[in-house]
Amino acid sequence: MAGPVNEQANPSPNPSAAPSAPRAADAAKADGAKTEATKYVGTPAVGTSKAAAAGGISSSGPSNSDIDRRRRRLTWVGVTAFLMAWFIAFFRFFLPRTLFEPNTVFKIGYPSEFALGVDTKFQQKYRIWVDRTPDRLFVIYARCTHLGCTPDWKPSENKFKCPCHGSGYDSEGINFEGPAPRPMDRAYITLAPDGQILVDTSKLYSWPKGQPNHFNDPGAFLPG
Ligand code: FES
Repeated sequence: MAGPVNEQANPSPNPSAAPSAPRAADAAKADGAKTEATKYVGTPAVGTSKAAAAGGISSSGPSNSDIDRRRRRLTWVGVTAFLMAWFIAFFRFFLPRTLFEPNTVFKIGYPSEFALGVDTKFQQKYRIWVDRTPDRLFVIYARCTHLGCTPDWKPSENKFKCPCHGSGYDSEGINFEGPAPRPMDRAYITLAPDGQILVDTSKLYSWPKGQPNHFNDPGAFLPG
């Protein structure tokens, strides 16, 4: 015999359908929590723009437009400096790279101005010594024939002494001690039309060991 259907006694035929409502509620809660998490909660930290805004205080730092202007100015300064350096390097490329050597031809005064012995007054300017002996006047080029140092004149010892490796030369520049292989060279001299001594250090007279002596060639000395 069929009786009335008792719905209380007959729960839903599909047990898995029952928890679906709570699950949906949980999902909604989770979504809500996520949304809330992205919101600013609580009192803003002191000193932040949010705190300032919350307190009704407007920001006191430079505005974005000021910062942009400064950045733009800095960029232009950098670009201008780069371009200037580039242009200087570009024009420098076309300038001649010359080495300005001191003049090798010069006057040193009249013969009567030089006494017997060694005169060192042109050593610094022209790297020469003027040397007068009883029978001639000549110019020694002040360069050691060992490795090219400039010797010192030692009047008390009446000799030239090279500070580099100790070569010694007598008062006429003739080597007598140390590693120097030959006497110091002599420069071309002549009398200019005005009577002064004209020296040319680009023309040198030497006396290489075992070879002819050029110290008596015309131009290597002035007689008297
Ligand atoms: S350079 Fe003068 S002794 Fe060596």
